[in-house]
Amino acid sequence: MCGIVGYIGTQRATEILLSGLEKLEYRGYDSAGIATIWEEQINCVRAKGKLHNLRSKIEHSENPAPIGIGHTRWATHGKPEEHNAHPHMDMARRIAVVQNGIVENYRELREQLKAQGHEFVSETDTEVIPHLIAQFLKEETALADDNSDVILFEAVRKAVNQLQGAFAIAVICADYPDELIAIRQQAPLVIGFGQGEFFCASDTPAIIAHTRAVLPLENGEMARLTPLGVEVYNFAGTRQRKHVRMLSLSPTMVEKQGFKHFMLKEIYEQPGVVRACLDAYFSSADDAGDSLINLDLPESLYADLEQIQIVACGTSWHAALIGKYLLEQLAGIPTQVQYASEFRYAPAPLTPNTLTIGVTQSGETADTLAALGMEKERRQGLESKYQVRLLGITNRPESSLGHMVPHIINTLAGIEIGVAATKTFTAQLMAFYALTLDLAQRRQTLPQEKLADIITGLRGIPKEIESTLETQEKLTEHLAHDFAETQDFIFLGRGINFPIALEGALKLKEISYIHAEGYPAGEMKHGPIALLDAKVPVVAIATPGNVYEKVISNAQEAKARDSRLIGVTPVNHGEAADVFNDMIPVTEVDELLSPLLTVVPMQLLAYNIAARRGLDVDQPRNLAKSVTVE
Ligand code: M6R
Repeated sequence: MCGIVGYIGTQRATEILLSGLEKLEYRGYDSAGIATIWEEQINCVRAKGKLHNLRSKIEHSENPAPIGIGHTRWATHGKPEEHNAHPHMDMARRIAVVQNGIVENYRELREQLKAQGHEFVSETDTEVIPHLIAQFLKEETALADDNSDVILFEAVRKAVNQLQGAFAIAVICADYPDELIAIRQQAPLVIGFGQGEFFCASDTPAIIAHTRAVLPLENGEMARLTPLGVEVYNFAGTRQRKHVRMLSLSPTMVEKQGFKHFMLKEIYEQPGVVRACLDAYFSSADDAGDSLINLDLPESLYADLEQIQIVACGTSWHAALIGKYLLEQLAGIPTQVQYASEFRYAPAPLTPNTLTIGVTQSGETADTLAALGMEKERRQGLESKYQVRLLGITNRPESSLGHMVPHIINTLAGIEIGVAATKTFTAQLMAFYALTLDLAQRRQTLPQEKLADIITGLRGIPKEIESTLETQEKLTEHLAHDFAETQDFIFLGRGINFPIALEGALKLKEISYIHAEGYPAGEMKHGPIALLDAKVPVVAIATPGNVYEKVISNAQEAKARDSRLIGVTPVNHGEAADVFNDMIPVTEVDELLSPLLTVVPMQLLAYNIAARRGLDVDQPRNLAKSVTVE
């Protein structure tokens, strides 16, 4: 969480920092601030709330400073007030620092610094950093000869070596106006290379308007940016050889392109995302040969496989539940799905020949990374059948996850800006279809014709999403009108569509702030049915297949308690029209593929209710797109 950005070059830094922060606002939006160096002084401006508050404070400034750092905050330590906003400074106001992450030992450091006479003005963990740098700067200055050009760098390096935790940091100092230092330790940070200008940022959208040449720092690395170039070192001070690479992202990919919100644009991008996954993961009939699936995963990952365990959070966890259904039902592999935040402190006992999959769209979720790291560690040195086998499913192969695991399925959804995950969920499902079918083919758990039928069915999905998107949008807009003031919602599903009920409830909660619960339809009668009355609408996902009739009866039970029933169901199928008060049509497809269609009205319903309530759909309160803290 939190976004940081830095610039050094020849242009006016303020505008570059503000527009960079705009692209990082999805990471947090409790407060924002920038610090620049001009006329040997640090000019620091901060504002509580969203970036536009900061913008309006700076609007009339003519500060031409060509160096600066910026921050958009998701509060961890200290309330979202201006005095806790970054950048933070030392007492002499010569050093400014922005941080994304958590300094775990900040209390000890703060006490130690207080004893040395430092005074603090915020409740944040970050504030210890400029004070610590100031302390080391004093020592370095006293020791160094007049020609030394690494005084600031050495002071920062020594300070960083005192910090424990996961963080990315950018530092400037008014006494060294031609230097910006960027540090990465388990929180993402990328360096950008322009013509005589250099950038650092938590994520590439912040700099893509200026350059596509980037260098992602690795954990334990720090970069010294000057107008002459960039040098990368490890925390011990040894220079590292690094290679710049070119991004395939383009600036228009991070624009709304005529849609009112990023979330709506991303919902509409889903047919294209499914097509991209189909092209990448599956062979066309002509060149099929023996294999219909192109995942390119080594046999060593699959050999003698007895069990799969999946760790994930939030929407990725819901995708993993659908993955479990597919892996168990089609490939016959027992599969456990764990919340990463639980698994890391209470892992299941070790099982042999186990594949561990981490699912995370951002590739930066702290709990998921820690769960995978823990699994790697506890299997180290064990006999071969207990050794770790790791696979990542992510939309950001260049992320921390990408560095951590040896094999990745890239979900190819393109960058997702809306905090509520939509197209990346659909892409994760596509990854699970491909993985399951790959395993089913290798283990011969499905006849080749059934396998080919499923792939043919998948190929039809983009058109089916396209043909219902607009109808569903209108219908859900209409429903949003009726439900904008509703206080509680229940979502029901069974079998492969139970996780879609969970996802529908999560989408509604996170962007409309309406209480919602997703439940397995058959479990309602064991307690939650007591919640139902005319004020509690029920959305039931009823798609033809082996639990269709069951869901319909469970829905009838809700109707008998006066709930208004909304069916996500094929319109002309069975008794749906008699049961539901409202219907959101989805095309009838093989039940196994139905989540790819049923999730779309869930997203649209949540979107339209939140938009109708006048809420900030793309940046809902208290949330951030990538959750890089525990
Ligand atoms: O980047 P990840 O997939 O690891 O993120 C996991 C969750 O934080 C994320 O899915 C969250 O629940 C979304 N806001 C859901 O829309």
